[in-house]
Amino acid sequence: MDNSRDTILNYQEGQPGEGTDKHDLKWVLFIFMKMKINKSILELVEGDITKEATEAIVNAANSGLRGGGGVDGAIHRAGGPQIMEECRKIGGCPTGNAVITSGGLLKAKYVIHAVGPIYHGGEKGDAEFLAGAYLNSLKRASENKILSISFPSLSTGAYGYPFDEAAPVALKTIIEYLKHHDEIEHVRFVLFGADAYRAYESALRGMIPMP
Ligand code: APR
Repeated sequence: MDNSRDTILNYQEGQPGEGTDKHDLKWVLFIFMKMKINKSILELVEGDITKEATEAIVNAANSGLRGGGGVDGAIHRAGGPQIMEECRKIGGCPTGNAVITSGGLLKAKYVIHAVGPIYHGGEKGDAEFLAGAYLNSLKRASENKILSISFPSLSTGAYGYPFDEAAPVALKTIIEYLKHHDEIEHVRFVLFGADAYRAYESALRGMIPMP
């Protein structure tokens, strides 16, 4: 990978937030990683994607766009019935692809519903379908002139993809896209829990030299 244009803007880890006494076991870790890819910002944060204020958030949907648990359930609960109404009209989305609806009551104006693969032990084109779900989400964003977008870690919940295998596929797909498409200014990975965050951080460290 050509690293010459990838600049680390900020790297912070284990920074005490609330309760700044390091001897207090309840101290809160504030972790994020932010870097520049070509003209765009790529950021990893730990959090809940339904609270994101980027122009679009990505949903980990199923091919019937029927809703479900995990991120999908959380997005439909927070965004209200309008999103499901639009999903019904669209009807479905093949694995590895993505469709777009409005964001209903969410802060985000759009929801991009991406269908990642069910994990088959790294076989049957798992990685290609996973990369496709990210790539097609980015294409929907570009087509709709969306400047900022947040992703969850697709396929790593109910669909069983291990974080350490999914993270390099996800990050590589996004980094390659941003190198050739500067119309998307800001991409955030909103990772649910420390294990997810650590896996993405470690994958990113493996791709781009860190201080
Ligand atoms: N914000 C960010 N990430 C979240 C949130 C949230 N609010 N809730 C869950 N996650 C994380 C999970 O921890 C997991 O790592 O999202 C990742 C993806 O998990 P799932 O939501 O289960 O998605 P996926 O594995 O792609 O399975 C999709 O699950 O709910 C159904 O309808 C959905 O059938 C589809 C399937």
